Amino acid sequence: MPTQQQLKQAVAQAAIDYIRPHLVPGSIIGVGTGSTADCFIDLLTPFAGQFAGAVASSERTAQRLMQGGVKVFNLNDVETMPVYVDGADEINPALQMIKGGGGALTREKIVASVAREFVCIVDASKQVDVLGAFALPVEVLPMAVASVMRFARGIGGNPAVREGFVTDNGNVIVDIAGLSIADPAQLECTLNQLPGVVTNGIFARHSASVALVADPQGVRKLM
Ligand code: 5RP
Repeated sequence: MPTQQQLKQAVAQAAIDYIRPHLVPGSIIGVGTGSTADCFIDLLTPFAGQFAGAVASSERTAQRLMQGGVKVFNLNDVETMPVYVDGADEINPALQMIKGGGGALTREKIVASVAREFVCIVDASKQVDVLGAFALPVEVLPMAVASVMRFARGIGGNPAVREGFVTDNGNVIVDIAGLSIADPAQLECTLNQLPGVVTNGIFARHSASVALVADPQGVRKLM
């Protein structure tokens, strides 16, 4: 049986094969954050120089890309990207996701929004029927933490501040456990209306375009 790390490497290789047509001169791609994204970056860096470069969804990803020789662009200097590749904490059959386990959800959502295609790369353990078993990360301005946590309790959640963690944007992550998210697009919208919420980790209004899912039998493509 392959280990979870081997499944991450398999799906990262499948992502390279999938985006290979975009690794050409002038092309800029978006790159996500996390251990699966790290596997993807490690397979991407041998192509450095064959494509223009990447926009990173976190400082951590930017460092890893640059160490591998990939030029990192500021998103404000990029009009569009053909593709954004990233992992997820959960993905449902509609290819809606919970992201933010690594705390990079805000930049991930911004970079993904500028790409024409979102390629989600996961091992099969991330597949769920209903989102919410993974505690939903919400990036919150520090002064709004208590009010956002009260709201979370009011909708049946069990919120906790992610201790010892500050986002790349200088904010706090509140992880909301105990939600069964029947309507992800609605909850994504509702949470984003709360004063002090920067972003929440539901990616439903902009779901994945395609998911590459690794299991011991191989990598499946879901659209
Ligand atoms: C980071 C993310 C990651 O994509 C998500 O947490 C999955 O990470 P991993 O590939 O390490 O399981 O959203 O903010």
